[in-house]
Amino acid sequence: VREVDHSPYAPALIESMRAVGYSLESAVADIVDNSISAGARLIRLRFSPYDEPYVAIIDDGSGMDPGELKEAMRHGSQNPNDERSPDDLGRFGLGLKTASLSQCRQLTVATLKGGQLSAARWDLDVIATTERWTLLLLDQQEIWKLPFFDVLQSQGRGTLVLWRALDRLSLGEESVEAGLGEGMVRVREHLALVFHRFLSQDGHRRGIEISVNEDPVPPRDPFLIWHKATQTLPEERIRIAGSVVAVQPYILPHYSKLAPKELELAGGEEGLRRQQGFYVYRNRRLIIWGTWFRLARQEELTKLARVRVDMPNSLDHLWTLDIKKSAAHPPIEVRQGLRRIVERIAEGSRRVYTYRGRKASDDRIVHVWERVEGRLGISYRINREHPMVRSITNGLDDSDLILFESVLKGLEEMFPAEALYADMASDKRHVRQWPEPSEEDLADLAGQLLDACGGDPTLRSNLLSNLGLLEPFSHVPDITRAIVARMQDGR
Ligand SMILES: Nc1ncnc2c1ncn2[C@@H]1O[C@H](COP(=O)(O)OP(=O)(O)O)[C@@H](O)[C@H]1O
Ligand SMILES: [Mg+2]
Repeated sequence: VREVDHSPYAPALIESMRAVGYSLESAVADIVDNSISAGARLIRLRFSPYDEPYVAIIDDGSGMDPGELKEAMRHGSQNPNDERSPDDLGRFGLGLKTASLSQCRQLTVATLKGGQLSAARWDLDVIATTERWTLLLLDQQEIWKLPFFDVLQSQGRGTLVLWRALDRLSLGEESVEAGLGEGMVRVREHLALVFHRFLSQDGHRRGIEISVNEDPVPPRDPFLIWHKATQTLPEERIRIAGSVVAVQPYILPHYSKLAPKELELAGGEEGLRRQQGFYVYRNRRLIIWGTWFRLARQEELTKLARVRVDMPNSLDHLWTLDIKKSAAHPPIEVRQGLRRIVERIAEGSRRVYTYRGRKASDDRIVHVWERVEGRLGISYRINREHPMVRSITNGLDDSDLILFESVLKGLEEMFPAEALYADMASDKRHVRQWPEPSEEDLADLAGQLLDACGGDPTLRSNLLSNLGLLEPFSHVPDITRAIVARMQDGR
């Protein structure tokens, strides 16, 4: 055999690598990863679609000296098989270049470390011309002219990543302006979620700040940990290859317990269902979410469950992490542990649904339907003591009473429990028996119940003062108060 050096043809390879499949938001996130790994506390994203459109990411991290910068600009600056420091969010030695050049044709990195200012540039058009891996090194005067150079200077350290010639952002859009504006909304949301544990204080660690055009990005915690109705299940730790994968399941509150704003944070009613599943973090950075890894079906009944999985970067090789850090598949040892946990939490999530409305001991409401837990299971019965029922039974003689009782029994036996269950579990729409009763209907009903008391003044005043505890009145306290006030006035 004979060995020959056979390096790739630069113009073709660098153009092809643009199609790795980064989205604008995953590309930005990859740059932010680098800033966080460099110890940045403040990461500013700035963009402008005007004049010479740009996207800039400026951090106050360690920065690089000229030698480090040149190495960082190399494709494959680090072997993916190298061991990384436990806080490092990088892996392939590609992100800075491939993420950037997936969105733009010109990448400039300027950096300041130990008083040394340096900048380097990849320009796809230059590479097309020279047909080589031609890296441009900027001289000092050129660096001074870069936008946000002053920010670097005032920080005394840090790195500026500048994207220009944003050809991908106007693709399929009316203009760069439209593409960039719309894209940055997604970027904001993506950063808020993916880096939420960095954006807020996490244990002892101080938070970092990310802003988009000077507007701070708030953390978006997918578990709603701060909500008092969120259930935190016991944490489990799976040991594998000398490292620990920590698994922390949460059951989110039923959507009826969420304020509109909170529901929106949880992804809306639809998102609540679609975004159930595992949330896998690599060094506290969210890489993949809303999947059960086919260990469970995406079910309506597990939709409240979200499971935080913390994996260290030492297990990258087992998780088969992809370059964009947007896909990873759990290794078999972890899958077994996860399967157990899924089964347990599906059970818990189911309970949040089915136990809702269960008669609590301090529930003083007189329900129309009563939930009865019997030996043979759970059944629903019409409450014979409810004044609505009493208003009829009180006036019946024995033979009619027997007839009426068999009617009630018949209704109860025919209660379409299975159909209701299937509807609740499969359909996004709510099951609704009637339109909400109107104030007029309720006033009529109250009048009928009052009439059924006959002339007994104690019965009448008892009914009026307890009307708010009676279904359906208990669901609309304001209307009921108004009705009671009117009836007490004798109107
Ligand atoms: N913002 C930054 N601050 C300091 N160093 C950086 C920054 N961005 C990139 N680097 C350096 O460049 C290297 C290459 O980055 P990258 O291509 O994203 O690959 P990776 O993150 O996998 O190492 C990093 O390992 C780091 O040493
Ligand atoms: Mg990186």
